[in-house]
Amino acid sequence: MKKIVIAVENISKTYGEGESAVLAIKEASFEIYSGETVALLGPSGSGKTTLITMIGCITEPSSGKLMLDGDLMYEQEWKVNDTRRVRREKIGFIFQSHNLIPFLTVLENVTLVPQMNGVKKVQADQSAKELLEYLGVGDKLTKMPSQLSGGQSQRVAIARSLANNPKIILADEPTAALDAQRALSVMQLLKKLSVDQEVAIVVVTHDERMLPLFDRILRVEDGYVREDLPHDSTTPT
Ligand SMILES: Nc1ncnc2c1ncn2[C@@H]1O[C@H](COP(=O)(O)OP(=O)(O)O)[C@@H](O)[C@H]1O
Ligand SMILES: [Mg+2]
Repeated sequence: MKKIVIAVENISKTYGEGESAVLAIKEASFEIYSGETVALLGPSGSGKTTLITMIGCITEPSSGKLMLDGDLMYEQEWKVNDTRRVRREKIGFIFQSHNLIPFLTVLENVTLVPQMNGVKKVQADQSAKELLEYLGVGDKLTKMPSQLSGGQSQRVAIARSLANNPKIILADEPTAALDAQRALSVMQLLKKLSVDQEVAIVVVTHDERMLPLFDRILRVEDGYVREDLPHDSTTPT
């Protein structure tokens, strides 16, 4: 049975106060299940990054409730002492610019977080190698980030986001810097992961061509979040 891994209830975010206050997200509510691939789609400035960084416990909501993997994260305040630790243990993040650490090798970039979480080096190395292999960059282990192409860097960033076996992957425009072909193959990889490993994947995207790959689409418009009708629904309701 599918499990709810992300539960968002009436979440709002206001930046600033008084006359200059910006209501970036307005009482959003939705649930995301294990193994689901969900797109957050909407114009620039509509609130997508605000929403995905609230789910990732980076941006503090102004009100509402957030549960991740059955644990209460936010309700009027953070309910966990160390939100960074939650991120490290439950969530894999992929950003538009891949944010690899420039002075570490590919392998070191991927093993850093697992080692911070207490995984032994031999074991961290082993699973990192398998992941990098799976993602088609298994021959780059000792390369520095500056020696990689854009597509290779993004694959390493994906390997890094997966290295802690997260239940949730959050990606903010992960393919924006890639050409159409590479963007599609990165998205196909994410899709395969969600199916193979029951990971819940939330991807901010502008790219309408990617939409058939998603199970569900959440539209974000002017801070309002609403569920799109299923694109591939064959049964009339
Ligand atoms: N740190 C911030 N301080 C003030 N306003 C912000 C901040 N971050 C985002 N905003 C505003 O919130 C709204 C939503 O922004 P954002 O979530 O970045 O949208 P998107 O990712 O869809 O482009 C915009 O009006 C933006 O200007
Ligand atoms: Mg954004």
